[in-house]
Amino acid sequence: MSRILITSALPYINGIKHLGNLAGSMLPADVYARFMRAQGHEVLYICATDEHGTPAELAAAKAGQDVRTYCDEQHDIQRRAGEQFGLSYDWFGRSSSRQNRELTQAFCEALDQNGLIEERTDKMVYSIDDGRFLPDRYVEGTCPHCGYDKARGDQCDNCGRLLDPTDLINPYSAVSGSRNLEVRDTKHLYLLQTKVEPQLREWIASHDNWPHLAKSIANKHLEEGLIDRGITRDLAWGVPVTKDGQPRPGFENKVFYVWFDAPIEYIGATREMFDAKGDADGWKKWWRLDQGADDVTYVEFMGKDNVAFHTVSFPATILGSGEPWKMVDTLKAFNWLNWYGGKFSTSMSRGVFMDQALDLLPADYWRWYLIANSPESSDSSFTWEQFQATINKDLADVLGNFVNRIVKFTESKFEAKVPEGGEAGPLEEKLYADLSTLIAEATQAFDEMEMRKAAQAIRRIWVLGNEYLQEAAPWTAFKTDTTRAAVIVRHGLNLVRLYASLAQPLIPSTAEKIAASVGETLPMAWPADDARAELSHLPAGQGVAAAEVLFRKIEDTQIAEWAERFGGSEG
Ligand code: MF3
Ligand code: ZN
Repeated sequence: MSRILITSALPYINGIKHLGNLAGSMLPADVYARFMRAQGHEVLYICATDEHGTPAELAAAKAGQDVRTYCDEQHDIQRRAGEQFGLSYDWFGRSSSRQNRELTQAFCEALDQNGLIEERTDKMVYSIDDGRFLPDRYVEGTCPHCGYDKARGDQCDNCGRLLDPTDLINPYSAVSGSRNLEVRDTKHLYLLQTKVEPQLREWIASHDNWPHLAKSIANKHLEEGLIDRGITRDLAWGVPVTKDGQPRPGFENKVFYVWFDAPIEYIGATREMFDAKGDADGWKKWWRLDQGADDVTYVEFMGKDNVAFHTVSFPATILGSGEPWKMVDTLKAFNWLNWYGGKFSTSMSRGVFMDQALDLLPADYWRWYLIANSPESSDSSFTWEQFQATINKDLADVLGNFVNRIVKFTESKFEAKVPEGGEAGPLEEKLYADLSTLIAEATQAFDEMEMRKAAQAIRRIWVLGNEYLQEAAPWTAFKTDTTRAAVIVRHGLNLVRLYASLAQPLIPSTAEKIAASVGETLPMAWPADDARAELSHLPAGQGVAAAEVLFRKIEDTQIAEWAERFGGSEG
């Protein structure tokens, strides 16, 4: 038994997340956490809302709320959506917590003591009418290269060139539209990543076991070379900057950059959890190598745009502190889940968001689809047609049908009890052999966080069960040889039990119903590769009872309606 720490990238606070966000970090992290728990490991799965920064301030202002109230509300909305999706966080924290504030300030002070912090003066665009400095992407204007008139200060969306806000012709504030802008000097803290570079390179080089996407993005960033990084901003909402525990002179109106404090919240949230339990030091055994965390395996899940922050920036913070922190062991990154080949877009109402999805169908339908089509080796696209086909085939026809068919047959012919008697024959021997291979495949795929592969192996296990029943045909055997029929039915019911245990990480609520239909309860141990043993668990005489329909097929009319409502078309 091992201790496994799992984190998924912290969803940003401004609004409920769409299915692409879910598929690219929280859901696979949850599946992995559930798989590891079923294997008997001690798991700590941590997530939180990422609450600081300009977008939160602006979203709050737009909603007519103060930013704290706005974040309180949005945090609750996201927590509830996560629960309804079955995301089994051990703690869902908030980066605006006291614990994270204290940790963030302590990290900066440690970096400062190690000579890795420097005050530098930057030139930034100040909006006089907004009364604030504008982050690069909130300055807009005409692109000097292509003439596009809504180019952002960091990049032109039309020609793709990287820009500096001062490059823009006729710049204006994206917050208010005001052209009353000027460039002002402002002082910021820089983390001298160039000084940590050798240690960082060594650390990354020692992790040749990372899954491909994460490793290749990390290496690309190293090749481009590290630069010193501004870690403060001219903002009111965030973690205040301190020195020796007091407000840092000259930084009274500044806070840490959101990307500095957000990953520290992985630790902060763990501390929130243990504080809530009244175990003030409990977090240390997960995060401090000198307090027992040396035997922890730490796995992070995230979308590909987050990889640089987790392989370079956050590790630079940790290594630079010189303190014995637990660092990530394996990092699993995902490509994009697109919406009909384009991006999910809130403003254009393209795509489905977590709350809307649950208004249409139960969480397990979405969970299965999103894992079976996980954007692992490349981007993948959601389409309603593919969603319908996947659900109707995999869940309704293959899994649901198998479970109901064999349990109902037991109800009508064997008094709703697991039958006894008879010996396994050649068909069962073949089933054991094929099944053992597939269980091993599924287990290995989960272990390696190959979500799509794991789902494929599990689907093949379901298909195998159907083929076995088809060939063994208990309904025919029953007419001439009830002992033989008993053997088949007993194997069929044990397959149902096996399916429940294998389904736990992916479709947890349905797994519970499947287990209940053969008189079992969750949690169940993860199956071993020995299918002969796995198909002999149910005691003879145990009662079974068919569940109500496990999965309803999705009708063409529903697809037409949803496509209309959620902008699902090629256009
Ligand atoms: N909020 C960021 C995003 O949505 C992710 C933050 S991950 C963390 O892309 F490491 F900073 F926590
Ligand atoms: Zn341009």
